[in-house]
Amino acid sequence: MATNNGAFLICDDLYKIFKVADIEVMALQGLDLTVKRGELVGVVGASGSGKTTLMNVLGGLTRPSAGQVIIDGKNLLKLSTRELTAYRQIEVGFVWQQGSRNLIPYLSALDNIKLPMTLAGVAGAQIDKRARELMDLVDLSDRYDHKPIQLSGGEQQRVAIAVALANEPKLLLADEPTGELDSTTSDQIYDLFKRLNRELDLTICIVSHDPDIRKHVGRVVAIRDGKLASETVKRSASQKPRLHIQGETSSGEHLEEQFEELIVLDSAGRLQIPKQYREELGFENRVEMEVTEDSIVIRPAKNLDETSSQAEIQLEREIRVGENGARGSFISRFRRNS
Ligand SMILES: Nc1ncnc2c1ncn2[C@@H]1O[C@H](COP(=O)(O)OP(=O)(O)O)[C@@H](O)[C@H]1O
Ligand SMILES: [Mg+2]
Repeated sequence: MATNNGAFLICDDLYKIFKVADIEVMALQGLDLTVKRGELVGVVGASGSGKTTLMNVLGGLTRPSAGQVIIDGKNLLKLSTRELTAYRQIEVGFVWQQGSRNLIPYLSALDNIKLPMTLAGVAGAQIDKRARELMDLVDLSDRYDHKPIQLSGGEQQRVAIAVALANEPKLLLADEPTGELDSTTSDQIYDLFKRLNRELDLTICIVSHDPDIRKHVGRVVAIRDGKLASETVKRSASQKPRLHIQGETSSGEHLEEQFEELIVLDSAGRLQIPKQYREELGFENRVEMEVTEDSIVIRPAKNLDETSSQAEIQLEREIRVGENGARGSFISRFRRNS
């Protein structure tokens, strides 16, 4: 169980199984995640690894098949349908990748922002004032009356962020918000997320398929096959890095940052060895583990093929003997050997 120590968001052993026709898909497979209040977290992973499913669970749009989700002290699985609707309207904001999913095309930017407030029953005069403030907050003071089609992709995502913030949520979830933007515009959107995180003390989770997101957030968690596999944290210069990444800021000045990817060890002692390492070192489905004074060394299992093929030959020989009538001796020898 993830600890509750100062955590704003806790996912504990989350499972989500989708069943389509007779086929079950495990989108989340025992995912543990803890996010502190006011943290800005990136969530990365290959396509199909379960990122969107996780966002939908956190946003109260999907109920998990098993496990716990606690957000700001609320256990989402224990909320009634009505409470969950209120949670979605007030306590969490969403930004999706596609502008069309975020905004209603025939409404102006201001009216798009007003809509969630109207639905939540906020009083009329307050709605207009707040919508204008939000447009100013996302640096679009000169675009109040523009419809989505009259805005650039980056501007549309800014309006989408304003819409998501309309009811002053404590948690902002963004699923590939920069997926359709060029890199300069993406950087501006990340800068906006950073500013909102700082100024509003907002907890933000941003999903991306781009590992470069680590340049923009404090911590990146990686999902593999529906489970948290690793976390990448920034290191101060005095700490020795394992993974060294160099890049340039948008102003062209040289930027050097150090990151370390830490493998997540779950409460049952399971960890995932990254595919790249397994391939490089020839790891297959069995390994040898050696405990030293302060570490555990994992090596590809030696002579496994030899051992298993020998066992197979032995077994085949025994079965032949068994077919000739000596079955009892085969079973006892098999038991002794196994
Ligand atoms: N509504 C659904 N019905 C059936 N399968 C789904 C549904 N949503 C997602 N999946 C499956 O769950 C897995 C994880 O999907 P998703 O969370 O969308 O991954 P990601 O966002 O990381 O690409 C995929 O194999 C996907 O096909
Ligand atoms: Mg997705």
